[in-house]
Amino acid sequence: MQSQAPSPDDLGGVDATPRHVAIIMDGNGRWAQQRGMDRTWGHREGVKALKPIVKESSRLGIEVLTVYAFSTENWRRPLQEVDVLMGLLVEFLAQETPELRDEGVKIRTIGDIERLPDSARRSLDWAKAETAAETRMVLNLALNYGARDEILRAVNRWCRDDAATPLTEECLAGYLDTAGLPDPDLLIRSSGEFRLSNFLLWQLAYAEIFISNKLWPDFDPEEFRRAIRDYQARHRRFGGLG
Ligand code: FPP
Repeated sequence: MQSQAPSPDDLGGVDATPRHVAIIMDGNGRWAQQRGMDRTWGHREGVKALKPIVKESSRLGIEVLTVYAFSTENWRRPLQEVDVLMGLLVEFLAQETPELRDEGVKIRTIGDIERLPDSARRSLDWAKAETAAETRMVLNLALNYGARDEILRAVNRWCRDDAATPLTEECLAGYLDTAGLPDPDLLIRSSGEFRLSNFLLWQLAYAEIFISNKLWPDFDPEEFRRAIRDYQARHRRFGGLG
């Protein structure tokens, strides 16, 4: 029998679905500029691209989807762009939370959200409370997130709590914002850039990496399945020989 190249829809039933997928949603600004539009329009389209990826993740049985929505470095962008991003977050939560809840998605965050504007914090509190009981999937929003900041906050908390006990990997992991979540198996970055950009530096230690050439607003479930198939074709060794 002749073997055929798998189609993008050929994922059903394949083992080794990643438990946790992390995404750097890059390229919104370029997407808009290529169309002669303001960068913020790209962010608006970027939010639209997120929903089908959340749905597809849930359909594929992925347990955790972490998306880099706003980094500690993003404060350096023009105030107007920061305001638009915060407004989009509030809009996204108001519009999508009920449907996410109905689909069994729990919303959580990583990053220092105390520094976000009040409106964003209130929306997040509401969305988290609305979805707190859901267990099918976690949508983990990285907001005012930077991995170095996360590690420093974790170590400082450990110093306050328990500095007499030697710090182990498990102990530190328990102080990170991702406490209780499995490490990402797969990191996807859109827009063809090969950088980690201060994202999940501790947790990505053994992750597979998939770089997509699509700019984030063009990133669709078909490209997502391509990334998952690529992951499934790899042989993870976790530093061993097996
Ligand atoms: C990178 O594109 C993207 C961001 C800085 C923000 C990502 C945010 C979204 C997709 C929308 C917000 C998400 C939620 C959940 C409301 P870029 O502006 O750096 O693009 P560029 O590299 O082309 O300039």
